[in-house]
Amino acid sequence: MTTKEKNTNKTRTLNNNNQESIAYYDDKNHDYEEFWVGRDYEHNSEIIALKKLLRNKHFSLAMDYGGGYGRISPAILEHADRLILVDPSIKQLNIAKERLKQYANIDYVRVDKKNCVPVADNSLDLLVMVRVSHHLAEPGDTFKEIARALKPQGLAIIEIANEAHFVNRMKYLKQMKNVPKQSIPIGKRANGITDSTPFYNHNPKTITNLMVENNLQVIDKLSVSNLRNQYLKEHMSIQRMLALEKFFQGKLKVVDFGPSIFFLVKKVE
Ligand SMILES: C[S@@+](CC[C@H](N)C(=O)[O-])C[C@H]1O[C@@H](n2cnc3c(N)ncnc32)[C@H](O)[C@@H]1O
Repeated sequence: MTTKEKNTNKTRTLNNNNQESIAYYDDKNHDYEEFWVGRDYEHNSEIIALKKLLRNKHFSLAMDYGGGYGRISPAILEHADRLILVDPSIKQLNIAKERLKQYANIDYVRVDKKNCVPVADNSLDLLVMVRVSHHLAEPGDTFKEIARALKPQGLAIIEIANEAHFVNRMKYLKQMKNVPKQSIPIGKRANGITDSTPFYNHNPKTITNLMVENNLQVIDKLSVSNLRNQYLKEHMSIQRMLALEKFFQGKLKVVDFGPSIFFLVKKVE
């Protein structure tokens, strides 16, 4: 078997094993709330991006897809009358119910099928999916489901972990290689260790093509967490970092600079 064939087989196994990421967020030893301690810069950068993309918009029914414990749900609810928080993890949904109990306009739904957006066709005005596509080796089927669930002209904000970010691009350049088109397993999984959930980085160009193939037209995007760097975090105030972040998100989108790209897409026929 060639290396290429071995890699293809590995990807196939991972694709069939979506249960892993679900088990990971249900695991009593994994604390996703704890992950966010010390990540105020990243959290606030994402909230800035959401606010920019949702500015002057209001929706009747929105969904936080793969919403976890509801970290970004309040920011979405500022622009929606009602929110459905969907997640496969019972643990995350239970934490969300407790953290967001002051909101009477949230429905909590557990999804137990892969690539399933659990609502009828043409029913959502807005769907937001942040930090979920990094668990999807092939997000095309999920995009198809998102398009099915959105009303005509409905909007979605879809975030991806960006393989083509500036630092990586320099790395590929040094090796005289292009940024790969396909999704790239990262972290422990990349080293063939199988005891953790799969994580994937994506190429924004491939993602844009996949969106178009699935009737999702990109109408805007932002480059997010552009200053994510330990040295900067230690030497610059968070206020200053966030002011720069706010300024640069729109400017740096043209070169897909940051480690995270937020796409604003519209369902088209
Ligand atoms: C990194 S967390 C992100 C949570 C939230 N969106 C946020 O940004 O804080 C990933 C979430 O996606 C959920 N998830 C994993 N695989 C999924 C899938 N195939 N479809 C939908 N949600 C998934 C997990 O249960 C987890 O709550």
